[in-house]
Amino acid sequence: MYDFDKITDRKHSYSKKWRKYAGKDILPLWVADMDFPAPPAVLAALQGTLDHGVFGYSMHQEEVRRDIVDYLQREYNWGVAEKDIIWLPGLVCGLNLASQALSDVDQAIITATPIYPPFMSAPLNAGRELLKTPLLEVNGDWRWNWDDLEKQLAAARIKPKLLLLCNPHNPVGKMWTREELEQLLEFAIRHDLVVCSDEIHCDLILDESRKHIPFASISKEAAERSITLMAPSKTYNVAGLNCSFAIATNPLIRNKFAKIMRGLFGDLNSFGVAACQAAYNECDDWKKELLIYLRANRDLIVQILTPYTDLQLSIPEATYLLWIDGRKLCTKYKIDNLQQFFEQAGVGLSDGAEFDLPGFVRLNFGTSRVTLTQALERMVTALDQLTAS
Ligand SMILES: Cc1ncc(COP(=O)(O)O)c(C=O)c1O
Repeated sequence: MYDFDKITDRKHSYSKKWRKYAGKDILPLWVADMDFPAPPAVLAALQGTLDHGVFGYSMHQEEVRRDIVDYLQREYNWGVAEKDIIWLPGLVCGLNLASQALSDVDQAIITATPIYPPFMSAPLNAGRELLKTPLLEVNGDWRWNWDDLEKQLAAARIKPKLLLLCNPHNPVGKMWTREELEQLLEFAIRHDLVVCSDEIHCDLILDESRKHIPFASISKEAAERSITLMAPSKTYNVAGLNCSFAIATNPLIRNKFAKIMRGLFGDLNSFGVAACQAAYNECDDWKKELLIYLRANRDLIVQILTPYTDLQLSIPEATYLLWIDGRKLCTKYKIDNLQQFFEQAGVGLSDGAEFDLPGFVRLNFGTSRVTLTQALERMVTALDQLTAS
């Protein structure tokens, strides 16, 4: 019913993703937005806002709190109250606010790598010590390395207070299971940590048999010591509209977070709020079809690249991002920088080094089948040339 094959020209727009390679024949599969227009219901809501023609101060966001509460109940069986929601212009902003509000200057912040770069910059921006624990990769599955973390904590000069969780995890596409989240909670309780869970990719679940589990929803204790960051931006492709939110049921955490924000943020943009409301109320069918399309894109990449055994793919359970280990390839063919190697072949991927894991690249498959196929052909040609040389 929805046409995800239809190509919208973004080359001549202000798209960050496409502008990076303006004038060059490089297909951009890097920054995490999709090449699809937003759902028709979102476009209609934006058009309705525009048609009204008056853009004065708005209180629309107060009404949308109810829509978010209903959505979270419907999608995740997670009960929150309208008052638990704090509006934000973006999740990176939320990570930075959490780092400042939920730890003190003499306390460290934990995160697990490889990770979306702001998880590492937010603690540093706040002047906090960052404690990084590398995730363990076991047969394509990524896990927390509790032994490593316990050892680091035992040796740490500065004790941590906050843990930044990415659920699902960008860039490896991992959906944390209930057991893993429970283990994380147990760890957080033992070390008296607050958990800030970034769940921006929560709706992009590719495995049909599974459901996203918000960390805060697993128990009362998890809710008590956490804050969750969410947005319609990834799923409904409205990242440029800057409408996001935090949810904290614990008033102590919520108030600390809100206090840091006081006076620094104005109301949300009316267009972002309208898009958020339409996305959460009217786009379930669109989302279902999007997921079918993304799943097929993921499967196409796996089918095309699996024969190249010098590349190791982490097949994502969630997100439209695919994490590729090219270390074997780099060693074998003396490639210094895998991102540049593929860029020279006409495909713009994200460099693993930015996620704290050089030798890897991240491929964004939130694009049309035609663009993806063309990008894969270019990658395969470059790989074949290596083996032929
Ligand atoms: C895990 C994660 N958090 C946050 C963001 C960015 O959020 P925002 O654009 O709302 O700042 C991204 C974008 O890729 C992301 O992957």
